[in-house]
Amino acid sequence: MKFSRRNFIRILGGSAIIMAPIACSSVSNTPDPTAPWADANTANNPIKFVLSHALLAPNPHNRQPWMIQLHDETAATLFVDPSQDLPETDPFDRQITIGLGCFLEVLTIAANNQGFQAKIDYFPEGFNQQTLDKRPIAKIELLRASSLLPDPLFGQILHRRTNRKPFNEQQVPTINLIEITKETFGTNNGFASSTTQIEQLRQLTIAAAEMEFETPHTYMESVNLMRIGSAEIAKNPDGISIDIPMIGLLKAFGIVSKKTLSDQTSSAFKQGLKQYSDAAASSANFIWISTNTNTRIDQINTGRTYVRQNLLATKLGISMQPLSQALQEYPEMQQLLEEAHKVTQINGQRLQMLARIGYAATGNASPRFPLSAKLIEHENNQH
Ligand SMILES: Cc1cc2nc3c(=O)[nH]c(=O)nc-3n(C[C@H](O)[C@H](O)[C@H](O)COP(=O)(O)O)c2cc1C
Repeated sequence: MKFSRRNFIRILGGSAIIMAPIACSSVSNTPDPTAPWADANTANNPIKFVLSHALLAPNPHNRQPWMIQLHDETAATLFVDPSQDLPETDPFDRQITIGLGCFLEVLTIAANNQGFQAKIDYFPEGFNQQTLDKRPIAKIELLRASSLLPDPLFGQILHRRTNRKPFNEQQVPTINLIEITKETFGTNNGFASSTTQIEQLRQLTIAAAEMEFETPHTYMESVNLMRIGSAEIAKNPDGISIDIPMIGLLKAFGIVSKKTLSDQTSSAFKQGLKQYSDAAASSANFIWISTNTNTRIDQINTGRTYVRQNLLATKLGISMQPLSQALQEYPEMQQLLEEAHKVTQINGQRLQMLARIGYAATGNASPRFPLSAKLIEHENNQH
């Protein structure tokens, strides 16, 4: 094939480039951004073991908004990393807090596997409902508990993925939907119960994706978090990974760059939106989590519930992907946010998570910062 700009664009048009999970390729001299998945079981003390699993939790835009202060081999304090927030699409840190809830639940499951009960004291110095601040999110203590039954979800932690591929037409059996939505930490969970409701949610999630992509301040937040190519991903193993065949050349020729991706007339932009919308359109069903109020504790409980659902689905061979756009709190999304509450028929509760659920081949593990990058330097820290 001739090595031309037009051919590049044709390649680009046929490739899924945006929001794609990383195709893991190890490049010499650069750290493997998926190494934390392989390293999780090698930690040499109980607190590092549980934290090494917790950092594999799902979290919004893969921001990994956690920072940890170690105290000793069984105690730590969790803080939010303020540099990892999403001010445009998550102005009140609601999704960031849900991600921290996912982290705490995976930590609890891993502690249980090691014969510990994780005692978690949420917001010991209080919290700000508008934005998270410097005060601790949780104090964590591992207490030896000899009579604990092993949590059956532990075995799924390393296999769990957010799956952004189109799902096939296979329906998720109702018995599985009931089982998955039974996982709860004081949240109310639901799933679509008719083909009409499923179709309404497909249309809603597509419209909300279009709104986020076509609203410059929210779309640019995503563009700024795009990591293009394996070297950039290895350097910043967070955000949105873009790694497709020939990405090095596409990048070198300026065909894929933050500049082209931010141009709404470019084929790269159109392809990204199409990929996201096609995935939403292929949703076999949807599940959701809602809460009676919308406190920080509700948000933490949502995260704890969501990751358990995601782990149980993994065990059942079922894929999930949150589609959060319609749940976000910025003025342009307000109408679709109201619509999402109507379609899910949750009667005055706050919709906290909406995810599509179905079947597709499993994707690759997404990048993570290693635990060492997330530790707060402190004289009592054990490195
Ligand atoms: C609160 C929350 C909201 C999320 N929203 C979306 C979303 O709208 N679209 C999406 O593709 N993934 C969404 N995710 C999934 C994350 O992007 C994903 O967890 C992260 O990239 C890490 O990938 P992994 O789950 O495969 O480890 C969300 C996750 C959480 C916890």
